[in-house]
Amino acid sequence: MTDSDSITIQRAEKQDAATLTDISKRAFHSDTDFGTEGTGGPPGYDSIEWNSKNIVANFVHYYKILKNERVVGGFISGTRRKGYHVCERIFVDPDYQHTGLGLQAFKLIWDKHPEAQLWTLGTPEWNIPTKNFYEKLGFVQIGFTYDVPDWRGRFYEKRMTSDSPLQEIGELGDGMKQAVVEGTITKRSQPRHVTSRKGETLTVTEVELSDDSGSITVVLWNEQESLIQSDRIRIENGYVKSYRGALQLSVGKWGLIISLS
Ligand SMILES: CC(C)(COP(=O)(O)OP(=O)(O)OC[C@H]1O[C@@H](n2cnc3c(N)ncnc32)[C@H](O)[C@@H]1OP(=O)(O)O)[C@@H](O)C(=O)NCCC(=O)NCCS
Repeated sequence: MTDSDSITIQRAEKQDAATLTDISKRAFHSDTDFGTEGTGGPPGYDSIEWNSKNIVANFVHYYKILKNERVVGGFISGTRRKGYHVCERIFVDPDYQHTGLGLQAFKLIWDKHPEAQLWTLGTPEWNIPTKNFYEKLGFVQIGFTYDVPDWRGRFYEKRMTSDSPLQEIGELGDGMKQAVVEGTITKRSQPRHVTSRKGETLTVTEVELSDDSGSITVVLWNEQESLIQSDRIRIENGYVKSYRGALQLSVGKWGLIISLS
């Protein structure tokens, strides 16, 4: 990349969907050089429909990365709660990779979101190039995720300020959504079976999660229990409900459990 190259980011528009899908497909297929079995990518990476939907969605910001006004990549960012930002996806056209574009794109995104106190992201453990890339950007690996079958994900964060957007367990209240907390598992019940209203047999396990401010029962359904592989965890996108007079924290479809190192 020369000094005269102009790298910019702009919000993607619906008419960019086909170009961004083509770049995404080629970018993720280029990962096969580094250990994926066969070609593949994250959900929707090769679907124009998925990319169109996310471009107009209000729960993420979909940016296009431009080099001298040509679209050369995409960046999807999300927010779990105020100050807690997530890089959902970044991809750069293989013809333009290893020229510093990815690093530059992140810096432009950080400038666009000065309200972010923390950025997080996940990447498959087998993907050594992305590990090098994120560490070069100052991301620190704080744990692993186990929500994708057959491999574990490295979970990274980069703190942008000394303020933390995480909540304390003692602050959680009935009806809260988008809770982000971390703590130590201080009790774990034996899994038990219950029958749902639809007649399905479900397995429920309760764990007690504690920090300096208090404790809460986390309710885990079916295989969610296997996502906990260490004594300390972080929960993203949890929701709180009162059940028989006590607060319970659940992790829904859009939630995430991170086993902290
Ligand atoms: C990951 C990705 C976005 C990086 O973008 P990029 O523009 O190629 O990255 P940069 O040129 O800014 O790379 C900067 C640094 O990252 C590291 N890096 C990038 N690609 C690497 C590779 N193939 N092998 C080793 N290190 C690599 C290096 O430390 C590099 O610094 P250097 O050039 O001084 O050695 C890009 O490779 C990509 O689109 N990959 C496929 C999609 C993907 O896996 N996305 C991430 C998961 S959502």
